[in-house]
Amino acid sequence: MKLSQSAALAFAASALAAPSLTTQEKPRAAAAACASAVTLDGSSNVFKKYKLHPNSFFRKEVEDAVAQMSDSSLAASAKKVADVGTFLWLDTIENISRLEPALQDVPCENILGVVIYDLPGRDCAAKASNGELKVGELAKYKSEYIDKIVPIIKAHSNTAFVLLIEPDSLPNLVTNSDLQTCQNSASGYRDGVAYALKQLNLPNVVMYLDAGHGGWLGWDANLKPGAEELAKAYKAAGSPKQFRGIATNVAGWNQWDLSPGEFSKTSDAKYNSCQNEKTYITTFGAALKTAGMPNHAIIDTGRNGVSGLRKEWGNWCNVKGAGFGIRPTSETGTELADAFVWVKPGGESDGTSDTSAVRYDSFCGKPDAYNPSPEAGQWNQAYFEDLIKNAKPKF
Ligand code: BGC
Repeated sequence: MKLSQSAALAFAASALAAPSLTTQEKPRAAAAACASAVTLDGSSNVFKKYKLHPNSFFRKEVEDAVAQMSDSSLAASAKKVADVGTFLWLDTIENISRLEPALQDVPCENILGVVIYDLPGRDCAAKASNGELKVGELAKYKSEYIDKIVPIIKAHSNTAFVLLIEPDSLPNLVTNSDLQTCQNSASGYRDGVAYALKQLNLPNVVMYLDAGHGGWLGWDANLKPGAEELAKAYKAAGSPKQFRGIATNVAGWNQWDLSPGEFSKTSDAKYNSCQNEKTYITTFGAALKTAGMPNHAIIDTGRNGVSGLRKEWGNWCNVKGAGFGIRPTSETGTELADAFVWVKPGGESDGTSDTSAVRYDSFCGKPDAYNPSPEAGQWNQAYFEDLIKNAKPKF
Protein backbone atom coordinates (compact mmCIF):
# COMPACT_ATOMS: atom_id res chain seq x y z
CA MET A 1 0.00 0.00 0.00
CA LYS A 2 1.34 3.38 -0.95
CA LEU A 3 0.14 6.21 1.26
CA SER A 4 0.67 9.79 0.22
CA GLN A 5 2.24 11.89 2.93
CA SER A 6 -1.00 13.69 3.72
CA ALA A 7 -2.95 10.42 3.80
CA ALA A 8 -0.37 8.99 6.18
CA LEU A 9 -0.69 12.04 8.41
CA ALA A 10 -4.47 11.81 8.46
CA PHE A 11 -4.27 8.11 9.23
CA ALA A 12 -1.78 8.85 11.97
CA ALA A 13 -4.01 11.47 13.51
CA SER A 14 -6.95 9.09 13.70
CA ALA A 15 -4.81 6.25 15.06
CA LEU A 16 -3.35 8.46 17.75
CA ALA A 17 -6.82 9.55 18.74
CA ALA A 18 -7.66 6.00 19.79
CA PRO A 19 -6.39 5.80 23.38
CA SER A 20 -7.36 2.18 23.90
CA LEU A 21 -4.53 0.94 21.69
CA THR A 22 -1.35 -0.13 23.48
CA THR A 23 1.97 0.83 21.92
CA GLN A 24 2.37 -2.65 20.49
CA GLU A 25 -1.08 -2.78 18.96
CA LYS A 26 -0.79 0.57 17.26
CA PRO A 27 -0.66 0.27 13.50
CA ARG A 28 2.88 1.03 12.39
CA ALA A 29 1.69 3.68 9.94
CA ALA A 30 0.56 5.62 13.02
CA ALA A 31 4.08 6.90 13.31
CA ALA A 32 4.11 9.84 10.97
CA ALA A 33 6.71 12.25 9.71
CA CYS A 34 7.17 15.61 11.38
CA ALA A 35 4.44 18.24 11.01
CA SER A 36 6.78 20.61 9.19
CA ALA A 37 9.97 20.51 7.18
CA VAL A 38 13.02 19.04 8.89
CA THR A 39 16.26 21.01 8.78
CA LEU A 40 19.34 19.11 9.86
CA ASP A 41 22.53 20.78 10.95
CA GLY A 42 25.56 19.12 9.39
CA SER A 43 27.80 20.75 11.96
CA SER A 44 26.22 18.89 14.87
CA ASN A 45 25.55 15.26 15.78
CA VAL A 46 22.01 14.53 14.55
CA PHE A 47 21.99 11.21 16.42
CA LYS A 48 21.72 13.16 19.66
CA LYS A 49 18.26 14.16 18.55
CA TYR A 50 17.13 11.39 16.21
CA LYS A 51 17.03 7.63 16.62
CA LEU A 52 18.06 5.42 13.69
CA HIS A 53 14.81 4.04 12.29
CA PRO A 54 14.11 0.29 12.27
CA ASN A 55 13.09 0.23 8.62
CA SER A 56 10.09 -1.75 7.45
CA PHE A 57 12.01 -3.62 4.74
CA PHE A 58 14.38 -5.21 7.26
CA ARG A 59 11.45 -5.67 9.65
CA LYS A 60 9.71 -7.79 7.01
CA GLU A 61 12.84 -9.87 6.39
CA VAL A 62 13.13 -10.50 10.12
CA GLU A 63 9.44 -11.29 10.54
CA ASP A 64 9.63 -13.80 7.67
CA ALA A 65 12.67 -15.34 9.36
CA VAL A 66 10.85 -15.57 12.70
CA ALA A 67 7.97 -17.37 10.99
CA GLN A 68 10.39 -20.14 9.97
CA MET A 69 11.65 -20.76 13.50
CA SER A 70 10.44 -23.66 15.60
CA ASP A 71 12.54 -22.78 18.66
CA SER A 72 10.28 -20.36 20.52
CA SER A 73 12.96 -18.77 22.64
CA LEU A 74 15.09 -18.10 19.57
CA ALA A 75 12.02 -16.69 17.83
CA ALA A 76 11.36 -14.38 20.77
CA SER A 77 14.91 -13.02 20.56
CA ALA A 78 14.73 -12.77 16.78
CA LYS A 79 11.58 -10.66 16.94
CA LYS A 80 13.48 -7.99 18.84
CA VAL A 81 15.92 -7.61 15.96
CA ALA A 82 13.13 -6.05 13.88
CA ASP A 83 13.08 -3.12 16.31
CA VAL A 84 16.75 -2.27 15.87
CA GLY A 85 17.53 0.73 13.68
CA THR A 86 19.13 -0.50 10.45
CA PHE A 87 20.04 1.12 7.12
CA LEU A 88 18.07 0.47 3.95
CA TRP A 89 20.25 -0.33 0.95
CA LEU A 90 19.33 1.05 -2.48
CA ASP A 91 21.63 -1.33 -4.32
CA THR A 92 19.99 -1.19 -7.77
CA ILE A 93 17.87 1.25 -9.75
CA GLU A 94 14.93 -1.08 -9.29
CA ASN A 95 15.35 -1.13 -5.53
CA ILE A 96 14.84 2.63 -5.32
CA SER A 97 11.21 1.49 -5.18
CA ARG A 98 11.90 0.30 -1.62
CA LEU A 99 12.35 3.86 -0.43
CA GLU A 100 8.79 5.18 -0.66
CA PRO A 101 7.24 2.30 1.35
CA ALA A 102 10.03 2.59 3.91
CA LEU A 103 9.06 6.23 4.42
CA GLN A 104 5.53 5.51 5.52
CA ASP A 105 6.24 4.74 9.17
CA VAL A 106 9.13 7.00 10.17
CA PRO A 107 8.12 8.97 13.27
CA CYS A 108 9.34 12.51 13.75
CA GLU A 109 11.89 11.47 16.37
CA ASN A 110 13.53 8.91 14.03
CA ILE A 111 15.95 9.28 11.13
CA LEU A 112 15.87 6.94 8.13
CA GLY A 113 19.27 5.52 7.21
CA VAL A 114 19.80 4.86 3.50
CA VAL A 115 22.83 3.41 1.72
CA ILE A 116 23.61 4.80 -1.72
CA TYR A 117 25.27 1.90 -3.54
CA ASP A 118 25.19 1.59 -7.31
CA LEU A 119 28.35 3.07 -8.81
CA PRO A 120 29.41 1.91 -12.27
CA GLY A 121 31.93 -0.94 -12.01
CA ARG A 122 30.94 -1.47 -8.39
CA ASP A 123 33.10 -3.54 -6.01
CA CYS A 124 36.12 -3.29 -8.30
CA ALA A 125 38.47 -5.35 -6.10
CA ALA A 126 36.05 -8.22 -5.50
CA LYS A 127 33.32 -10.04 -7.34
CA ALA A 128 30.57 -10.70 -4.82
CA SER A 129 28.92 -7.28 -5.08
CA ASN A 130 29.61 -6.38 -8.69
CA GLY A 131 26.66 -4.21 -9.62
CA GLU A 132 24.30 -3.62 -12.51
CA LEU A 133 26.10 -0.59 -13.98
CA LYS A 134 29.19 -1.14 -16.08
CA VAL A 135 32.26 1.03 -16.18
CA GLY A 136 31.38 3.97 -18.41
CA GLU A 137 27.74 4.14 -17.33
CA LEU A 138 28.21 7.21 -15.18
CA ALA A 139 25.52 9.14 -17.06
CA LYS A 140 23.07 6.39 -16.21
CA TYR A 141 24.17 6.42 -12.55
CA LYS A 142 23.42 10.13 -12.45
CA SER A 143 20.16 10.24 -14.36
CA GLU A 144 18.56 6.93 -13.47
CA TYR A 145 19.86 6.40 -9.97
CA ILE A 146 20.86 9.59 -8.07
CA ASP A 147 18.41 11.86 -9.94
CA LYS A 148 15.56 9.46 -9.09
CA ILE A 149 16.39 9.38 -5.39
CA VAL A 150 16.67 13.16 -5.00
CA PRO A 151 12.99 13.98 -5.69
CA ILE A 152 11.80 11.30 -3.26
CA ILE A 153 13.86 12.84 -0.47
CA LYS A 154 12.65 16.31 -1.46
CA ALA A 155 9.04 15.14 -1.43
CA HIS A 156 9.58 13.87 2.11
CA SER A 157 10.98 17.09 3.49
CA ASN A 158 9.28 16.34 6.82
CA THR A 159 11.44 13.27 7.33
CA ALA A 160 15.08 13.18 8.46
CA PHE A 161 17.55 11.13 6.40
CA VAL A 162 21.06 9.92 7.04
CA LEU A 163 22.76 8.86 3.83
CA LEU A 164 25.79 6.64 3.64
CA ILE A 165 27.58 7.15 0.36
CA GLU A 166 29.01 4.28 -1.66
CA PRO A 167 30.66 1.67 0.57
CA ASP A 168 34.15 0.51 -0.43
CA SER A 169 34.42 2.75 -3.49
CA LEU A 170 37.07 5.36 -2.66
CA PRO A 171 39.01 3.06 -0.29
CA ASN A 172 39.40 0.66 -3.23
CA LEU A 173 40.94 3.43 -5.30
CA VAL A 174 43.48 4.05 -2.56
CA THR A 175 44.63 0.48 -1.99
CA ASN A 176 43.69 -1.50 -5.08
CA SER A 177 44.89 0.79 -7.84
CA ASP A 178 47.13 -2.02 -9.09
CA LEU A 179 44.03 -3.86 -10.30
CA GLN A 180 42.89 -3.13 -13.84
CA THR A 181 39.26 -3.27 -12.70
CA CYS A 182 39.83 -0.53 -10.11
CA GLN A 183 41.77 1.59 -12.60
CA ASN A 184 38.84 1.27 -14.97
CA SER A 185 36.36 2.22 -12.26
CA ALA A 186 38.35 5.13 -10.83
CA SER A 187 37.04 8.12 -12.75
CA GLY A 188 33.43 6.91 -12.48
CA TYR A 189 33.81 6.46 -8.73
CA ARG A 190 35.33 9.91 -8.24
CA ASP A 191 32.78 11.71 -10.39
CA GLY A 192 29.90 9.58 -9.16
CA VAL A 193 30.64 10.10 -5.47
CA ALA A 194 31.07 13.86 -5.97
CA TYR A 195 27.81 13.99 -7.91
CA ALA A 196 25.96 12.05 -5.21
CA LEU A 197 27.31 14.33 -2.46
CA LYS A 198 26.35 17.43 -4.40
CA GLN A 199 22.85 16.39 -5.44
CA LEU A 200 21.89 14.84 -2.13
CA ASN A 201 22.95 17.89 -0.15
CA LEU A 202 19.38 18.61 0.96
CA PRO A 203 18.21 20.31 4.18
CA ASN A 204 16.62 17.16 5.63
CA VAL A 205 19.75 15.06 4.99
CA VAL A 206 23.10 14.41 6.65
CA MET A 207 25.72 12.48 4.72
CA TYR A 208 28.64 10.24 5.63
CA LEU A 209 31.14 8.92 3.10
CA ASP A 210 32.45 5.38 3.41
CA ALA A 211 36.04 5.16 4.70
CA GLY A 212 36.63 1.41 4.90
CA HIS A 213 37.95 0.37 8.32
CA GLY A 214 41.07 0.30 10.46
CA GLY A 215 42.45 -2.75 8.66
CA TRP A 216 42.10 -0.99 5.34
CA LEU A 217 42.93 2.72 5.32
CA GLY A 218 44.38 2.48 8.84
CA TRP A 219 47.80 1.30 7.60
CA ASP A 220 50.44 4.01 8.03
CA ALA A 221 50.98 4.26 4.29
CA ASN A 222 47.26 4.58 3.56
CA LEU A 223 46.20 7.25 6.04
CA LYS A 224 47.29 10.30 4.10
CA PRO A 225 46.38 9.14 0.58
CA GLY A 226 43.08 7.86 1.96
CA ALA A 227 42.20 11.14 3.59
CA GLU A 228 43.20 13.04 0.47
CA GLU A 229 41.11 10.82 -1.79
CA LEU A 230 38.01 11.36 0.33
CA ALA A 231 38.64 15.07 0.77
CA LYS A 232 38.99 15.46 -2.99
CA ALA A 233 35.49 14.05 -3.49
CA TYR A 234 34.09 16.29 -0.76
CA LYS A 235 35.65 19.36 -2.35
CA ALA A 236 34.67 18.34 -5.88
CA ALA A 237 31.09 18.27 -4.57
CA GLY A 238 31.46 21.89 -3.46
CA SER A 239 32.04 21.14 0.25
CA PRO A 240 28.36 20.35 0.88
CA LYS A 241 26.91 21.77 4.08
CA GLN A 242 25.05 18.62 5.01
CA PHE A 243 28.21 16.54 4.91
CA ARG A 244 29.28 15.33 8.31
CA GLY A 245 32.14 12.86 7.89
CA ILE A 246 32.81 9.19 7.41
CA ALA A 247 31.22 5.77 7.93
CA THR A 248 33.53 2.96 9.00
CA ASN A 249 33.38 -0.80 9.45
CA VAL A 250 30.42 -0.98 7.04
CA ALA A 251 29.47 -4.66 6.76
CA GLY A 252 32.65 -5.19 8.77
CA TRP A 253 33.79 -7.18 11.75
CA ASN A 254 36.23 -4.94 13.61
CA GLN A 255 35.89 -4.23 17.29
CA TRP A 256 35.27 -0.74 18.59
CA ASP A 257 37.87 -0.48 21.34
CA LEU A 258 39.36 -3.93 21.93
CA SER A 259 42.90 -3.49 23.17
CA PRO A 260 45.30 -4.76 22.08
CA GLY A 261 43.48 -5.15 18.78
CA GLU A 262 42.51 -8.44 17.20
CA PHE A 263 45.44 -8.43 14.78
CA SER A 264 48.01 -6.71 16.96
CA LYS A 265 50.19 -9.84 17.17
CA THR A 266 50.74 -10.26 13.44
CA SER A 267 54.18 -9.57 12.02
CA ASP A 268 53.03 -6.49 10.11
CA ALA A 269 51.05 -4.99 13.00
CA LYS A 270 53.78 -2.41 13.54
CA TYR A 271 52.68 -0.71 10.33
CA ASN A 272 49.14 -0.16 11.54
CA SER A 273 48.38 1.80 14.69
CA CYS A 274 44.63 1.59 14.04
CA GLN A 275 44.02 -1.81 15.61
CA ASN A 276 40.45 -1.00 16.55
CA GLU A 277 37.84 1.32 15.08
CA LYS A 278 38.18 3.82 17.89
CA THR A 279 41.84 4.45 17.13
CA TYR A 280 41.05 4.35 13.43
CA ILE A 281 38.45 7.12 13.48
CA THR A 282 40.71 9.20 15.72
CA THR A 283 43.85 8.73 13.64
CA PHE A 284 42.16 8.87 10.26
CA GLY A 285 39.99 11.70 11.55
CA ALA A 286 43.12 13.77 12.19
CA ALA A 287 44.32 13.05 8.64
CA LEU A 288 40.92 14.12 7.29
CA LYS A 289 41.11 17.36 9.21
CA THR A 290 44.51 18.07 7.71
CA ALA A 291 43.10 17.28 4.28
CA GLY A 292 40.29 19.78 4.92
CA MET A 293 37.26 17.57 5.38
CA PRO A 294 34.65 17.17 8.13
CA ASN A 295 35.70 14.16 10.16
CA HIS A 296 32.96 12.90 12.43
CA ALA A 297 32.14 9.22 12.10
CA ILE A 298 29.46 6.59 12.34
CA ILE A 299 30.56 3.01 12.92
CA ASP A 300 28.74 -0.15 11.83
CA THR A 301 28.42 -2.42 14.87
CA GLY A 302 25.78 -4.65 13.27
CA ARG A 303 27.83 -7.83 13.18
CA ASN A 304 30.89 -7.25 15.37
CA GLY A 305 29.58 -8.82 18.58
CA VAL A 306 32.23 -11.58 18.57
CA SER A 307 35.95 -11.05 18.05
CA GLY A 308 38.73 -13.41 17.05
CA LEU A 309 36.89 -15.19 14.24
CA ARG A 310 38.85 -14.14 11.19
CA LYS A 311 42.00 -15.93 10.12
CA GLU A 312 43.14 -12.74 8.42
CA TRP A 313 42.12 -9.13 8.87
CA GLY A 314 41.10 -8.80 5.24
CA ASN A 315 38.55 -11.62 5.37
CA TRP A 316 35.22 -9.95 4.76
CA CYS A 317 32.77 -12.58 3.61
CA ASN A 318 30.05 -14.05 5.87
CA VAL A 319 32.44 -14.57 8.77
CA LYS A 320 31.50 -17.74 10.64
CA GLY A 321 30.45 -17.46 14.26
CA ALA A 322 29.63 -13.75 14.08
CA GLY A 323 27.06 -12.17 16.39
CA PHE A 324 24.98 -9.02 16.34
CA GLY A 325 26.84 -6.18 18.04
CA ILE A 326 26.08 -3.03 20.02
CA ARG A 327 22.67 -1.55 19.19
CA PRO A 328 22.57 1.84 17.51
CA THR A 329 23.30 4.64 19.95
CA SER A 330 24.85 8.08 20.11
CA GLU A 331 26.46 7.14 23.43
CA THR A 332 29.88 6.32 22.02
CA GLY A 333 32.02 8.06 24.62
CA THR A 334 34.07 9.67 21.85
CA GLU A 335 33.34 13.11 20.47
CA LEU A 336 34.37 12.20 16.93
CA ALA A 337 32.09 9.15 16.92
CA ASP A 338 28.55 10.43 16.31
CA ALA A 339 26.95 7.01 16.65
CA PHE A 340 27.18 3.27 16.47
CA VAL A 341 24.75 2.20 13.77
CA TRP A 342 23.64 -0.99 12.06
CA VAL A 343 24.39 -0.64 8.37
CA LYS A 344 24.65 -4.18 7.01
CA PRO A 345 21.29 -5.86 7.61
CA GLY A 346 22.37 -8.94 9.56
CA GLY A 347 21.06 -12.02 7.79
CA GLU A 348 21.72 -10.66 4.29
CA SER A 349 24.68 -12.40 2.69
CA ASP A 350 27.99 -10.79 1.72
CA GLY A 351 28.43 -13.09 -1.26
CA THR A 352 27.68 -16.51 -2.61
CA SER A 353 29.64 -19.64 -1.72
CA ASP A 354 28.58 -21.25 -5.01
CA THR A 355 31.87 -21.63 -6.86
CA SER A 356 30.10 -21.78 -10.23
CA ALA A 357 28.32 -18.43 -9.81
CA VAL A 358 29.46 -15.47 -11.92
CA ARG A 359 29.88 -13.37 -8.78
CA TYR A 360 31.65 -16.08 -6.79
CA ASP A 361 34.55 -14.52 -4.92
CA SER A 362 37.20 -16.77 -3.39
CA PHE A 363 36.92 -14.88 -0.09
CA CYS A 364 33.46 -16.43 0.26
CA GLY A 365 35.05 -19.86 0.00
CA LYS A 366 37.61 -19.32 2.77
CA PRO A 367 37.53 -21.62 5.80
CA ASP A 368 36.25 -18.80 8.02
CA ALA A 369 33.39 -17.93 5.63
CA TYR A 370 29.96 -19.44 6.25
CA ASN A 371 29.00 -22.14 3.75
CA PRO A 372 26.50 -22.38 2.12
CA SER A 373 25.75 -18.73 1.54
CA PRO A 374 23.47 -17.19 -1.08
CA GLU A 375 24.24 -14.25 -3.39
CA ALA A 376 25.16 -10.91 -1.79
CA GLY A 377 22.10 -9.24 -0.30
CA GLN A 378 20.05 -12.45 -0.23
CA TRP A 379 18.75 -13.81 3.04
CA ASN A 380 20.61 -16.56 4.85
CA GLN A 381 18.34 -17.95 7.54
CA ALA A 382 20.95 -20.13 9.24
CA TYR A 383 23.41 -17.26 9.38
CA PHE A 384 20.77 -14.96 10.84
CA GLU A 385 20.02 -17.51 13.56
CA ASP A 386 23.72 -17.68 14.45
CA LEU A 387 23.92 -13.88 14.64
CA ILE A 388 21.17 -13.98 17.26
CA LYS A 389 22.69 -16.86 19.22
CA ASN A 390 26.06 -15.11 19.27
CA ALA A 391 24.73 -11.59 19.83
CA LYS A 392 26.62 -9.42 22.28
CA PRO A 393 24.87 -7.87 24.09
CA LYS A 394 22.29 -10.68 24.09
CA PHE A 395 18.75 -10.20 22.83
C1 BGC B 1 25.18 -6.42 -1.61
C2 BGC B 1 23.91 -5.62 -1.80
C3 BGC B 1 23.11 -5.61 -0.51
C4 BGC B 1 23.97 -5.18 0.65
C5 BGC B 1 23.24 -5.28 1.97
C6 BGC B 1 25.95 -5.94 -0.42
O1 BGC B 1 27.02 -6.78 -0.19
O2 BGC B 1 25.96 -6.36 -2.77
O3 BGC B 1 23.16 -6.18 -2.84
O4 BGC B 1 22.02 -4.75 -0.63
O5 BGC B 1 25.13 -5.97 0.74
O6 BGC B 1 22.99 -6.60 2.30
